[in-house]
Amino acid sequence: KMNTFVSTLMKKMTIDEKIGQLNLVTGGMAITGSVTNSGIDNGITKGSIGGIFGLYGTDNVRKAQDAAVKGTRLHIPLIFGLDVIHGHRTIFPIPLGMSATWDLGLIENAAHIAAKEATAEGLNWVFSPMVDIARDARWGRISEGSGEDPWLGGKIAGAMVRGYQGTNMKNADAVMACVKHFALYGGAEAGREYNTVDMSRLRMYQDYMPPYKAAVDAGAGSFMSSFNVVDGVPATGNRWLLTDLLRNQWGFKGFVVSDYTAVNEMTNHGMGDLQQVSALALKAGLDMDMVGEGFLTTLKKSLNEKKISLADIDLACRRVLEAKYKLGLFDNPYKSINPAKEKSDVFNDENRKAARITAEHSFVLLKNNNQILPLKKSGGSIAVIGPLGDNKRDMLGTWVIAGEWEKSVSVLEGIKHIVGDNVKLNYAKGSNITDDAEFMKRLNFGPDMVSLDKKSPDEMIEDAVKAAKKSDIVLAVVGESQSMSGESSSRSDINIPESQRKLLKALYLTGKPVVIVLFNGRPLTLTTENENAAAILDVWAPGTEAGNAIAEVLFGNYNPAGRLTATFPRSVGQIPVYYNHLNTGRPYTDGPTKFKSNYLDIANDPLFPFGYGLSYTKFTYSDIKLSKTNLKGNDAVTATVTVTNAGPYAGEEVVQLYISDPVASVSRAVKELKGFRKVMLQVGEAKEVSFTITPAQLKFYNSQLKYDWEPGEFGIQIGTNSADVKTAKVQWTK
Ligand code: IFM
Repeated sequence: KMNTFVSTLMKKMTIDEKIGQLNLVTGGMAITGSVTNSGIDNGITKGSIGGIFGLYGTDNVRKAQDAAVKGTRLHIPLIFGLDVIHGHRTIFPIPLGMSATWDLGLIENAAHIAAKEATAEGLNWVFSPMVDIARDARWGRISEGSGEDPWLGGKIAGAMVRGYQGTNMKNADAVMACVKHFALYGGAEAGREYNTVDMSRLRMYQDYMPPYKAAVDAGAGSFMSSFNVVDGVPATGNRWLLTDLLRNQWGFKGFVVSDYTAVNEMTNHGMGDLQQVSALALKAGLDMDMVGEGFLTTLKKSLNEKKISLADIDLACRRVLEAKYKLGLFDNPYKSINPAKEKSDVFNDENRKAARITAEHSFVLLKNNNQILPLKKSGGSIAVIGPLGDNKRDMLGTWVIAGEWEKSVSVLEGIKHIVGDNVKLNYAKGSNITDDAEFMKRLNFGPDMVSLDKKSPDEMIEDAVKAAKKSDIVLAVVGESQSMSGESSSRSDINIPESQRKLLKALYLTGKPVVIVLFNGRPLTLTTENENAAAILDVWAPGTEAGNAIAEVLFGNYNPAGRLTATFPRSVGQIPVYYNHLNTGRPYTDGPTKFKSNYLDIANDPLFPFGYGLSYTKFTYSDIKLSKTNLKGNDAVTATVTVTNAGPYAGEEVVQLYISDPVASVSRAVKELKGFRKVMLQVGEAKEVSFTITPAQLKFYNSQLKYDWEPGEFGIQIGTNSADVKTAKVQWTK
């Protein structure tokens, strides 16, 4: 039916109208550069625009849709997109935080709520999920993805696609997902934004591609090409990537949009002038050109000069029209324009509650000496100190277009909601986010204007020390501000900024126990903090309900169960550092030594490994019981551990399964995550947790890029994080 509909429509379309469908414009958000489009109103009625992004709100969308549907010859509706990355109006934790929940249900629900809010404001397409694997914390966009693990990344990608698209994209509350950034964007050299990527096919297939593939398998409707090169050719014009792999091998049936002016940027990559790169991109399999208007301004010329064919244009146009068809826009171009819903479905109590619960689940307890946390809800005094303590602006994190920071809950407010007058609170800002005025200027992006405090750094520290001295406990709310991670926010130093480290030092010297509430869009280097603080609770950027969620956890209403999805290095010099590395010929054993694969000055192991996170309670693990140890062919083995809550609080544990393959035709990772279960255990309760392992979990890409398993011995590891596991072995013949 779709085919016939689109074919009939395309027969009526002129070349210009077809090319117009491939043009995506934005009116005013120079998020990724300085270029924006002008003359949009005119462009719509001329039929030279296929979609708009950055425009939302039922009135705005209706006006633009009216112009397309009523003002053009063929009445083709526009598609309306936006960067809805971790919520639309109700902001959820940044994706790296969300992944730390290890809770696919919560993640899918967060995407579904975002879709409900976005559709209520007239949108039908979101530029999410971002599924780029990242092993380099210097890269600011590590905050937008799900960390370093391909298997977990794939599960999360699938959950998000399902959350956005629902069971049918025609549903009024469903949006089309746009999986980005295809491909390998997270592998940028030196963690520097927009930088070169170069990796072996084996690494690509084994470690970086699985989440994109999982998103295709989940039915994602669209993909966004990435800014980087893949095998030397910009992704946006890479035919192997966009056609051979994505469509022919993986069976992707949707359309591909470029990233912001990425077609034009192929000129800087050395691929030719705008006409050449536009033709290259179209022929490679790119269907829609974001912002740069290379398609709009050059494709007809290329067609006349026979540099591209009508079939090339038709194919791209068909894919864009099919997307509109799948969304039901031809049936009802106004399907998500519903002012009543805009009032009832957006930023309501239910959505805020879901955002709070998701945030609570995303927090990772990195340290908790002498069980200083949870705090008591009455009696005594607490100093709340730090530039993020009484701060709404930085609660939401990166990529928040429609979320209003003024409506977010600060940490101080959240604490007051819980303790009221029962605990004396002494607040001091203590420091600027950074004292480096130049750095601060670079952080001042768009509406996110922050400035240095009127008080000098010394005066601010003095105030903080006073507040600390008259309190029993210090809560130091420190870390990265909203714009210190995200796009174009690479850092070569991933410490907490110097101004805040000075503050922390002064606080340690008071002798009061310092509990760090850490905001961060990336793994940070925290060795000093780990040595000196009594506790560290990593809260990422928690979103709208930040303060409430943080207070719920600090005061024990929810026992933290978040687990890291990206390794925290000891030093930036260890990067890239990730748990699923190869063994090397001279493996590191238990300390730096000569002639081993290690550093002279630092251990190889990270400060906090992948999968790590503490709880207010304590979980113990039995040894692994195997249902059998000698297996053949398609047999399955069940590996079981008994996990016991041996501590004083009820809580959730994330039981993690890793598999290793010590002998194979290619060198294999020392271990790979292959499963997990999140279990709730009451005080004293013990539960058996079982994993069924089949050959499907043993498969890997060999030198011929064939995905298969090889017989032999396999290590099975189950534990509380990637570095703390029980181990067992099986023999598996074919
Ligand atoms: O979706 C984003 C992408 O992640 C980075 N460049 C701009 C796009 C649209 O805003």
